[in-house]
Amino acid sequence: MPNYSQLLTDAEIWDLVKFLKNEVLDVTQLYDATYTGSYPSGQSTFSNIGKDGNAVNGKAYYDTRCSGCHGKAGKFIYMESMTLGKFLRSKPHESQHKVKFGQLGSSMSAFKTTLAEMKDLYKAVADTIAFPD
Ligand code: HEC
Repeated sequence: MPNYSQLLTDAEIWDLVKFLKNEVLDVTQLYDATYTGSYPSGQSTFSNIGKDGNAVNGKAYYDTRCSGCHGKAGKFIYMESMTLGKFLRSKPHESQHKVKFGQLGSSMSAFKTTLAEMKDLYKAVADTIAFPD
């Protein structure tokens, strides 16, 4: 990790502190991750996506909020050549942020989402039959 005190102003650091305190989800509740290597070429691998979330509730959340654009099985929009299922399972760290805050420059706006709802959504999308690669 670089020395951010050389890269950010004090005001930017305080904004970041406030963001971390009030907005960031505890991703250890969403998936397990293993990190190897060091910045900027480190690697991450993910498992146990959705942990003990409720897949039925997650599918209901998805059907209400996401399927209109991404399709019932997440295959309407390919992102970096991936279905929604494959994208979320490959990049769960990035996906939760984009769901909560929107995908800048696209029609996808922010969705107010609690940690429990995100966990349920992740559990549903972990199912490779409902959300194929
Ligand atoms: C109004 C249409 C719309 C809705 C509703 C919507 N999305 Fe999206 N979503 C998009 C578009 C368009 C993109 C951008 C695709 C791209 O970058 O090529 C996107 C991007 C994403 C990405 C990031 C892909 C990337 O390239 O970084 C994820 C993850 C995602 N959506 C998941 C969801 C989930 C989960 C929901 C429901 C909570 C949802 N989306 C709701 C249209 C939508």
